[in-house]
Amino acid sequence: MKEKKRYTITAALPYANGPLHLGHLAGAYLPADIFVRYLKAKGNDVAFICGSDEHGAAITLRAKKEGCTPQEIVDKNHEIIKKSFSNFGIDFDIYHRTSSKLHHETASDFFKNLYEKGSFTQETTEQFFDQEHQQFLADRYVTGTCPKCNSAGAYGDQCEKCGSSLSPTDLINPISTLSGKTPVLKETTHWFLPMNKHEKWLKTWIETGVLDGKQQHNPSEWRKQVIGQCKSWIDNGLQPRSITRDLDWGVKVPVDGADGKVLYVWFDAPIGYISATKQWAADNGKNWEDYWKDNNTQLIHFIGKDNIVFHGIIFPIILKEHGDFILPTNVPANEFLNLEGDKISTSRNWAVWLHEYLEDFPNKQDELRYVLTSIAPETKDSEFTWKDFQARVNNELVAIFGNFVNRSLVLTHKYFEGKVPSQGTLTEYDKEVLSSITSTQHKVYELIATYRFRDAQTEAMTLARLGNKYLADTEPWKLIKTDEERVKTILNISLQLCNALSIIFEPFLPYTSKKLKGFLNSNASELNSGHQLNQPELLFEKIEDEAIEAQIEKLKKISSPAPSKGGETTFPLGRVGDGTNPKAKPMKDEITFDDFIKMDIRVATILAAEKHPDADKLLKLTVDTGIDVRTVVSGIAEHYKPEDVVGKQVSMLVNLAPRKIRGIESKGMILMAENNEGSLAFISPEKAMDNGGEVR
Ligand code: MF3
Ligand code: ZN
Repeated sequence: MKEKKRYTITAALPYANGPLHLGHLAGAYLPADIFVRYLKAKGNDVAFICGSDEHGAAITLRAKKEGCTPQEIVDKNHEIIKKSFSNFGIDFDIYHRTSSKLHHETASDFFKNLYEKGSFTQETTEQFFDQEHQQFLADRYVTGTCPKCNSAGAYGDQCEKCGSSLSPTDLINPISTLSGKTPVLKETTHWFLPMNKHEKWLKTWIETGVLDGKQQHNPSEWRKQVIGQCKSWIDNGLQPRSITRDLDWGVKVPVDGADGKVLYVWFDAPIGYISATKQWAADNGKNWEDYWKDNNTQLIHFIGKDNIVFHGIIFPIILKEHGDFILPTNVPANEFLNLEGDKISTSRNWAVWLHEYLEDFPNKQDELRYVLTSIAPETKDSEFTWKDFQARVNNELVAIFGNFVNRSLVLTHKYFEGKVPSQGTLTEYDKEVLSSITSTQHKVYELIATYRFRDAQTEAMTLARLGNKYLADTEPWKLIKTDEERVKTILNISLQLCNALSIIFEPFLPYTSKKLKGFLNSNASELNSGHQLNQPELLFEKIEDEAIEAQIEKLKKISSPAPSKGGETTFPLGRVGDGTNPKAKPMKDEITFDDFIKMDIRVATILAAEKHPDADKLLKLTVDTGIDVRTVVSGIAEHYKPEDVVGKQVSMLVNLAPRKIRGIESKGMILMAENNEGSLAFISPEKAMDNGGEVR
C-alpha cells in the first residue's frame, strides 16, 4: 500500500455574482469532490479548499445594474452558492470568501512581499477614462468590436465570442458601459508582473516537470489540453501583465500613493486558496504552512479550461516569486459542458440552476452527480440533455444498481428474516464474483488517482452489473424450493457485493452510499453471517417522461434567443453611442399621444407554430394574448423555424383589424425589429411578464 500523503486540493473559487449551474458542478467541483473523497477514504491528510471569489468589475457592474452595493451582491450569492455546494455533497473542508478581513490581509501581505523584492514593474500608461463619471474604466467597463473576430460586444479584457484575451485599447469603437459614451485616454500608473522574465523556467517546468533541478511532477499525468494551452501561451511570448486596477472594490494596493487602486481580481483570488487554508487551519488546530510550504505536500487545482492560464502560469509565477511556496503538482482542468445543443449562457438563462434542480428533483442529487460524471468533459466538450439524463438514471441507476440491491435485500428478508446467511461451499463462479470486488475497487481507485473519473465510475458500475447477472444466472428464487444451502451462499455473496458497492460508490454517490449502508446496517468492509439487515426501500426512483418534458419546456420558456453577434453586453451591436446609423430610415411624421394610445399593444406568448401550408415566408402562430388565444400569420418563416419560436414572449398589436392572409385569418400583428441587413428580432419583454400586460 502506498504511503499516506498530505494534499491541498483546491476547486476554483466561483464568482459571487450569480448562482451555480450544471456546468460549474461538472467542470470543477464534482471531480474535485470525488478525488477528495477517494483520498480521504485512503486515509490521506487532505485540505479541500474553496470559497467565493468576491472581487472584480463583473461584481461592481452587477451592483450598478441592480442598484445596490457590491457587498450586498456578494453576501447574497455567497450564501446561495455555499448552500448549493452542501446540498450536492461537495464536501469542502472550508468554504471561505475573499471579501473577508483575513483574505484582504493575506493578499495585501503577498503583494507587499513581492513588491519589496522588486518582482513588479511600475508603468504609467494611458487607460480609458469616462469623463462623464470622472473615473478610470476597468477592462470590463469598456466594450467594443473585437479586433480578432470582428464581433461586437467584446469586453476590454476578453472577447467571449472567440475567446481572445484583449486589452481595452485593442477594441474597435470602444464604449464606456457607464455612460455609453466613447471614453478618452488618460495617464494612470499601475504595477505589472513581468511574465516575460519567467518564460524559461515555466517552459521547463510545464514540459518536463523539473523545477529548480528537481522532478516536481510527472507531466505525463497532466492532461494534454492543460500542457498544450500553457505551452502555447509561453511559445507566443508572455507579456507583462498589470496586476492592479483603478476600482474601488477589492483589496487596496498597499503602497503609498495608490489611492483608488485595488489588486486585479485574478491576483487576489488564487491567494484566496491560501487565506481559506489559514482560516481552516485556525479553526481546526492545524498548521496552514504544512499545506502550502512543505515539498511533500501535493497541491492540486481543479478548474475549468478558461482558468488554465491563471493556474498554470500566473499563479505559479506569483508563488515562485514569493519563494516559500510549493507549486501545483497537477491542474486537472475540464473542458466545457454544453446544454441541449447550445453553450451554457447565464445571461440568456440557458442553464440548469442547481438550486432549481433540487426544487424540481428533491433528494436526487446523486442522480445528477452520476449523470454529470458519466458525461464529464474530461478530454473534450460534452453535452447534457434531459433525455439522456432520464435514460441514464432509469436504465443504469434504477434498472441495474437499484434493482440488484433491492433483489438481494428483499430475498434475504423473505427467506432468512433479514439476517446475512452463511457462506457454504463456493463454486468457481462464486469465487470469481467475490474476487471481482477487490479487483474492481482496485481499478476504480487507480482511475480516480489518475483523474479519469468518468472511466472510474463506469468501472464501478460493472460491479452492479455483475451482481445483476449473478442473480439472473443463479436464480435463487427458484432454488429456494430445492436447495436452501445454495441460496444462502448466493445471497451472502450478493450482499457482500451490495456492501462493496456502498464503499466503491461513496466518492461518486455519497447520499446513495449512506442510504445503502443504512439498509445494510453496516459500516464494515464485509458483512458477517448472522448480521441483521434493515428493511430496504428503493435506492433510486424512475424519472418519468413528464418531469423531463417539463424541464425542456422550462428551458425554452425562460431563455432568450442567442444574440446574433457578440457575447454578454449592454451594447449588442457596434457603432453605438453616436446616433449615426447611416441605414436608419428617416423619422415619420409626428403624431399625437391620442394617435399613439389607439394602438393596443400587449405582452403575448406563442403557444404553437407551424409553417403556412401555402406560403414559404409565413408562419401560422397560435398566441395567448392574455385576453384570448388566437391565430396570427406572421412573415418570419425565413428567420425562425417553428420550433424556435414556441414559448417566446413577444409584443403584439392586438386591435389591428383581422385580415385573411393566404387563406388564413390573422388577428393582430407580432412586433418585430429589423436590422440594417433585414434580419428580424422579436420585441420581447426584458423579463418574463404576464400575458395581456400592456405595452406603452
Ligand atoms: N472566479 C473564477 C471563475 O469563476 C475562478 C477563480 S479561481 C481562483 O472563473 F484561483 F482565482 F481562485
Ligand atoms: Zn473575438
